[in-house]
Amino acid sequence: MDEFSRIIRHEIDYTMRPRMQKGFYSNFQESATVKIPRMYWEYSTKHVLCQEFSEGIRISDLKKLEAAGLDKKKISTDLANAYLKMIFEDGFYHADPHPGNIFVSLEGKIIFS
Ligand SMILES: Nc1ncnc2c1ncn2[C@@H]1O[C@H](COP(=O)(O)OP(=O)(O)OP(=O)(O)O)[C@@H](O)[C@H]1O
Ligand SMILES: [Mg+2]
Repeated sequence: MDEFSRIIRHEIDYTMRPRMQKGFYSNFQESATVKIPRMYWEYSTKHVLCQEFSEGIRISDLKKLEAAGLDKKKISTDLANAYLKMIFEDGFYHADPHPGNIFVSLEGKIIFS
């Protein structure tokens, strides 16, 4: 209970996010396949996190990906490579990869929100 209490408070305090998010952002800044939306720290508080709006298709929406002419095989390879980089090179990974948090831009870049 003590551990849960400490971790959940840490998790919901958004003022703790900058260090994590900045690391993540800089690890992918040079990437041709992944985009990390910019954060607006000046508008973010303990309870509000403000991020650049990223236009994209949910990674689970296969029909829309196809209709946009995007290559699903390339997207899956890019996503797997992004995770391999996060885990084995950066030691720092996106731990909430549900489809609402991963989009694909119209140019085919993976967006982690
Ligand atoms: N940077 C962004 N640009 C555009 N839409 C976004 C962005 N970030 C999140 N969204 C969309 O906004 C909605 C709410 O996102 P939010 O992250 O607050 O909730 P969630 O993804 O359900 O929760 P969590 O990320 O905590 O698991 C979702 O539909 C998500 O796809
Ligand atoms: Mg989300």
